[in-house]
Amino acid sequence: MSVLSGKKIVLGISGGIAAYKTATLVRMFIKAGAEVQVIMTPASKDFVTPLTLSTLSKNPVFSAFYNEEDENASWNNHVEIGLWADLMLIAPATANTLSKMANGTCDNLLLATYLSAKCPVYFAPAMDLDMYKHPSTLTSFSKLQSFGNIMIPAESGELASGLSGEGRMAEPENIISFIENDVAGKLPLRGKKILVTAGPTHEAIDPVRFIGNHSSGKMGFEIANEAAKLGAEVTLISGPSHLNVENESVQLVRVVSAEEMYQACHLFFEKTDVAIAAAAVADYRPKNRATQKIKKEESSFNIELERTKDILVSLGEIKKNQFLIGFALETENEIENAKAKIQKKNLDLIVLNSLQDDGAGFGTPTNKVTFIDKNFTIEPMDLKSKGAVARDILNKVIAHYND
Ligand code: CTP
Repeated sequence: MSVLSGKKIVLGISGGIAAYKTATLVRMFIKAGAEVQVIMTPASKDFVTPLTLSTLSKNPVFSAFYNEEDENASWNNHVEIGLWADLMLIAPATANTLSKMANGTCDNLLLATYLSAKCPVYFAPAMDLDMYKHPSTLTSFSKLQSFGNIMIPAESGELASGLSGEGRMAEPENIISFIENDVAGKLPLRGKKILVTAGPTHEAIDPVRFIGNHSSGKMGFEIANEAAKLGAEVTLISGPSHLNVENESVQLVRVVSAEEMYQACHLFFEKTDVAIAAAAVADYRPKNRATQKIKKEESSFNIELERTKDILVSLGEIKKNQFLIGFALETENEIENAKAKIQKKNLDLIVLNSLQDDGAGFGTPTNKVTFIDKNFTIEPMDLKSKGAVARDILNKVIAHYND
């Protein structure tokens, strides 16, 4: 999955012959899973049509503050577009547009959006070789870079003038991989190995029956997907769950019983930086597993249960520098019980679910949690989607490494 998946991208096109290549750029962004809003300078429309780009981007293309031909036209709000964007790319960036960007000129929608954007801005210059080397162009480059804008250098080759040299806009595939590498390099969990447990466990009674619970695995899968999106190397150890990982970079290890989950966790834990135990592990399992299906004979029937190993306790015992996060599902004395679990399991953070909160717990798309850290700082959170809760948990991990 591309790091650009789900990203909101504003593509600003200025008037150079390389504008014809933006059709490919838009296609590649869309293929990478990004949302694209194209803004064109009036001059760029001589090189590529808005219709082509709106068809490819699946969005209307803007080039003026409003459409003069449409009497019901609405205002194309540059501030809204600028703030909507996760990243902005100006490609091709002509000498004229670069100079205006460097000097704060604001005489078209693209420039107004550039000035409003708070996100990272990339620019891919395209011009003839002598223009590319002109001191005024070089001044624009260095000024823009001093503002934090990121230059995607032009490539060398044949130019529209017939001359050959530096100044061709970087090829669309090179622009995309430049941005992907830059975004990936800045992800906050890059280089971190994260182990996540998810789902229920099934403890066999006989070949066809088991003791299990209602956990869907959703919380753990969301954490694994979010962590991968934030650049972490993720291993997800999941009990039986119908869910699949969205992000193919997540290493998914499927297990069935608490014992298998225990073994898998210990295989990975030593080389892990962060472990997040979101699985609803069975606390008990049948002491003896029947090798054949148990037939109904007696009017009542007892199964003797024995304790499973507490995976989290065992990880807490051997942890060195690992940041260890556990969950607690409580129905009474929530805070006190959760604090006791922090100590018993040697945790750095516990994510407390209270079944007294509507919308929290098993099978729901939402969760309402309270964070308690090892210093017993308590932070209640609002009711959120499990994806948003996953992001909050990972923000705690990021904060731990940034402290
Ligand atoms: N956990 C685990 N291994 C177990 C049981 C639980 O790793 N055998 C982990 C869970 O993944 C969770 C945390 O421990 O992160 C808390 O589990 P909880 O449901 O609160 O159960 P217990 O700690 O076993 O406590 P109790 O059932 O007594 O409330």
